[in-house]
Amino acid sequence: MSSIIEDLIARKVFNNRGEETIEVDVITANGFGRAAAPAGKSRGKNEVVYYPQGGVDAAIKKVDEQIAPELAGLNADYQDEIDTTLHELDGTTNFKGIGGNTAYAISLANAEAAANSHSQLLCQFIGGSAANILPYPLGNCISGGQHARGKAPDIQEFLALPHGAATFLEAQIANTSIHKKIGDAIKKKSSTFNGGKSDEGAWIANISQDEAFEIIAKACEEVGNELDFECSFGIDCASSSLWKEKEEKYDYERESKKRDTAEQLEYIKDLIEKYHITYVEDPFHEEDFESFAELTRKTKNCLICGDDLFTTNNERLTQGTKLNAGNAIIIKVNQIGTLTDAVDTIENAARNGFTNVVSHRSGDTCDWHIAHLAVAYKCPIIKTGVVEGARIAKLNELLRIEQYLGNRARMADLKLT
Ligand code: PGA
Ligand code: ZN
Repeated sequence: MSSIIEDLIARKVFNNRGEETIEVDVITANGFGRAAAPAGKSRGKNEVVYYPQGGVDAAIKKVDEQIAPELAGLNADYQDEIDTTLHELDGTTNFKGIGGNTAYAISLANAEAAANSHSQLLCQFIGGSAANILPYPLGNCISGGQHARGKAPDIQEFLALPHGAATFLEAQIANTSIHKKIGDAIKKKSSTFNGGKSDEGAWIANISQDEAFEIIAKACEEVGNELDFECSFGIDCASSSLWKEKEEKYDYERESKKRDTAEQLEYIKDLIEKYHITYVEDPFHEEDFESFAELTRKTKNCLICGDDLFTTNNERLTQGTKLNAGNAIIIKVNQIGTLTDAVDTIENAARNGFTNVVSHRSGDTCDWHIAHLAVAYKCPIIKTGVVEGARIAKLNELLRIEQYLGNRARMADLKLT
């Protein structure tokens, strides 16, 4: 079996928001891989640059003229060599030269092409026979903040986490049931609700933040009772988008409330206690490592997760682990560019007892690669919605992997209670 790269083909495709993105095919002597890059809406300021000047068209031109000739002849099995070559061709520290999304599409397509050249599933090619652990799905049910338009809670995401499920299938059944119950409850509460959903398939409704908490807590409890395992929930505050630098306050516009850092800490801590929240992402803005550390010290049985704080960047994670700033990290490969860079971060997190949460972006395609990354690198959680095509593509792939593994399949070890 030869994994020698013969050619790369790049094209323009579209994500679920209808935005242009880049897709790349990597063709080897005996195989083929394809990946399209996702896009975030509430981006961290330390993420790599998505495209070179000139956007997707310029990126495609660079693949055709510059990158494909350099990668042809290399062996796709050696992911680090491919990714190092991408860095060299880029020549900058933040992928401004070729674009982080260009690097992402090539890097993931290469990994798939290597696996395909050996007639293996991606998760097994990367993770070997030890890759038999399924992640828990963390699924967005109510959208707010920058992910909603008009009146909606200020907190960006309210997420179901069925952490007592014995299988991935049961976990996904729980999440779909919670999502549906929430839709029904919102309909009763809000006369203007018309079933609208965000890019991630979560409900968008003119309800207050308190109502959102009550509704999701009740839905999780009811579904937990019906299915006889624990279903909890989490939030993504996406606090960098609430933070007003000049005033040094978090601005909850809808609530007409501003909270300084100490008040924000108390608010989040109280919410965790009141609703037994098991997951809180970005409770503070992206430079406030200290407050992440303080909240982590003051809470238990709750994952305090950094997304914009770390941006999948290994150096930023190291800064965080030294300070115990959180105990979980969001992994979005396109925040950092290549698979090799993301894996360095994943391994650093695991070594330091941080829980890895592999994540989609709000703008995404029907690519399923992150499903395989979660299994290959034993990431205990995958954050990829509950419904909507781009989310379902990943969730259904995990169901296929679970079936393929048969009685070797295990759920991740998530201790939250
Ligand atoms: P995104 O945000 O819009 O940048 O993908 C999702 C998130 O904040 O987790
Ligand atoms: Zn986030």
